[in-house]
Amino acid sequence: MDNADACETAIVRRLVEFPFLPSSFAVINAALDMIEVKPNEVFADLGCGDGIVLIEAARRFNVFCVGFELNPMLVKLALENVKRSGVGHLVDIVQTDLFTADLSKFNVIYVYPFPTIIRRLSEKIVDECPEGTRIIVHDYCLAGLRATKHVQTAKRGLHAHSVRLYVL
Ligand SMILES: C[S@@+](CC[C@H](N)C(=O)[O-])C[C@H]1O[C@@H](n2cnc3c(N)ncnc32)[C@H](O)[C@@H]1O
Repeated sequence: MDNADACETAIVRRLVEFPFLPSSFAVINAALDMIEVKPNEVFADLGCGDGIVLIEAARRFNVFCVGFELNPMLVKLALENVKRSGVGHLVDIVQTDLFTADLSKFNVIYVYPFPTIIRRLSEKIVDECPEGTRIIVHDYCLAGLRATKHVQTAKRGLHAHSVRLYVL
């Protein structure tokens, strides 16, 4: 196996352990209702998928939003969605592993994680994010941190989603 193949295998492995599942509009609205974002602050989505969370945050708060996404097909879809959204000037999509991102630059971070990455992600957040950073987490709890707020969306089918806000 050469270097390029090894790299591709590693990316596929990461995407299998943390796949794409879009947040519903009910969850996105509940998440954005939990926060205020000042004009000079920056919002990030770690694993931004189709970019919809970023577009909704940019529309609501008129702030700069950055999404990190490893899957090239989703990066393409997110870029198309952003282009059509009317807030393209406020949204940047970066094709990279979220674990390489410097989280210290962001004031508000949204993430819809999977259990497979919770511990590593929680450690990265604690290591890099300054005091005052707000982290919104869909459905899961960060390890070693206590949520400041917790809301549940109305049940659709069998499942109600939860949204937690952590303030460092
Ligand atoms: C559960 S989805 C959430 C998508 C979006 N944030 C939302 O809430 O609608 C997780 C996303 O993270 C991406 N992803 C998985 N591992 C990643 C990594 N290491 N770096 C960046 N993105 C990753 C997946 O491709 C997927 O789009």
